[in-house]
Amino acid sequence: MGFKEVSSATIFCLLLLFCLGCRCLASELVTSQAATLNVDASPQSARKIPETLFGIFFEEINHAGAGGIWAELVSNRGFEAGGPHTPSNIDPWSIIGDDSSVFVATDRTSCFSRNIVALRMEVLCDDCPTGGVGIYNPGFWGMNIEDGKAYNLVMYVKSPETTDLTVSLTSSDGLQNLASTTITVSGTSNWTKVEQKLVANGTNRTSRLQITTNKKGVVWFDQVSLMPEDTYKGHGFRTELISMLLDLKPRFLRFPGGCFVEGDWLRNAFRWRESIGPWEERPGHFGDVWHYWTDDGLGYYEFLQLAEDLGAAPIWVFNNGVSHNDEVDTAAIAPFVKDVLDSLEFARGSADSTWGSVRAAMGHPEPFPVKYVAIGNEDCGKKIYRGNYLKFYNAIRQAYPDIQMISNCDGSSRPLDHPADLYDFHVYTDSKTLFNMRSTFDSTSRSGPKAFVSEYAVWRSDAGRGSLLASLAEAAFLTGLEKNSDIVQMASYAPLFVNDNDRTLVFMGGTLMLSSSTRGNIMELLVTGCRHFSVSPAVLWFILLQSIPATLVR
Ligand SMILES: *[C@@H]1O[C@H](CO)[C@@H](O)[C@H](O)[C@H]1NC(C)=O
Ligand SMILES: *[C@@H]1O[C@H](CO)[C@@H](O)[C@H](O)[C@H]1NC(C)=O
Ligand SMILES: *[C@@H]1O[C@H](CO)[C@@H](O)[C@H](O)[C@H]1NC(C)=O
Repeated sequence: MGFKEVSSATIFCLLLLFCLGCRCLASELVTSQAATLNVDASPQSARKIPETLFGIFFEEINHAGAGGIWAELVSNRGFEAGGPHTPSNIDPWSIIGDDSSVFVATDRTSCFSRNIVALRMEVLCDDCPTGGVGIYNPGFWGMNIEDGKAYNLVMYVKSPETTDLTVSLTSSDGLQNLASTTITVSGTSNWTKVEQKLVANGTNRTSRLQITTNKKGVVWFDQVSLMPEDTYKGHGFRTELISMLLDLKPRFLRFPGGCFVEGDWLRNAFRWRESIGPWEERPGHFGDVWHYWTDDGLGYYEFLQLAEDLGAAPIWVFNNGVSHNDEVDTAAIAPFVKDVLDSLEFARGSADSTWGSVRAAMGHPEPFPVKYVAIGNEDCGKKIYRGNYLKFYNAIRQAYPDIQMISNCDGSSRPLDHPADLYDFHVYTDSKTLFNMRSTFDSTSRSGPKAFVSEYAVWRSDAGRGSLLASLAEAAFLTGLEKNSDIVQMASYAPLFVNDNDRTLVFMGGTLMLSSSTRGNIMELLVTGCRHFSVSPAVLWFILLQSIPATLVR
């Protein structure tokens, strides 16, 4: 326990004692109450808490990744978000000038075959307005550009005639210029990769990237990326968000979902293979469950890297041929099984194996130690779940006997009807129900697979934007997990992050939020109370016990 944690826990306790004191004074006026608390601390009832008990669950939801932990500042960098049919919506890109001076439309002329859409910009003015005409990107609700910091621009351009482009970081109204550079594009029929470093001479948290010119003619753009230079270990993660995660000391990282893994339809599910290799060549995809586009710069490789950077065991949740609305029949599941085996070779294979070599080429010759996989997400009730599950289970067991496999079916109240090393247990509910669920695992059979409580939270009005009531209920629930930690091996709160601009699709609120306000694009880390203060749930629960339960138990 570090000094910072001790002090925040101490402050928290002092505050609580102060509140309790006030409450006691107040209640003494009404009536005096007595409570007896029996604590059984005998060694016989002690259970060792597994090393793996507390970890994190990262889902691409609420812009947790795109516009969140992934530091890319340009939104829709490849112009693919509007779909493959052109002209397409280029949102949030927009033009500088008007349609009599600049004509902008997507076409299918990219040099990248898997993301073929590019942007064609035709400058129509002979005598363009001062400052020029062009395009701009506001990022994810504004780019946080900071004084003295460097930003790496990469873009692909093509222009039949030699032309000068001015690339700038400006305030959202374009009036404040924070960094600027001029790029000369030599006239050619080929695409050219441009790389430039921009150093900001001022701060504006809602900045934009703009590309302008004064010269009449046509220029194509594609894969326009702007990354801050100081990402965590140069791995592309926002440093201040990573440090919040490091403070949690997570023992595992479950990724990348959640429903994000399933998709509303299979065609929109997360595909690991499309999310690896050079970022420029990744097609990106529309996550139809949480309704936004990701360019998949934060892909399968980056998730594995994130786990390594956090010192957490990676838990890869893969699609098992099931989405919310369609399913692959077990008779036709073989290619999906092979796809998952390839993903495991990508992670664990030697640098000279087929997929291990792709990983090595991306900069990580050493394997990533994937020891856990989850076969689907929340799919137990689906017709073909067991059929598909067994196909994946048997193939993985054979190829990687040490990998622990997680079933979607709840084994807490009755034995599973299929083999598994662990089973998922998810709960989102009101505070009273979760509070009462502290005894859920008391009577669970000790002989079956272990529980992975991989998503839990108090939600809706009890959670709001964080509440002590919800925190207490979650702490009480966690005491039940600690008490039964001989059969509960892992637990993670959900969701982990929410972008303040995209709360609409989630009903849950975390119980304690740490706001990372260094951007116009504000991210909040959602953690349950005891995790934030690094005290045991039992301790938090004990401290809070006398102040709140009346509300809960009532
Ligand atoms: C940032 O830009 C906005 C206009 O988009 C302006 O109102 C604001 O004052 C600027 N902030 C700073 C710190 O200069
Ligand atoms: C910052 O840099 C921009 C672009 O080079 C320039 O236009 C602006 O005057 C500079 N601002 C300050 C305060 O130096
Ligand atoms: C365009 O690229 C092709 C293939 O890389 C090359 O052969 C050709 O010389 C290039 N043309 C120009 C004008 O640079």
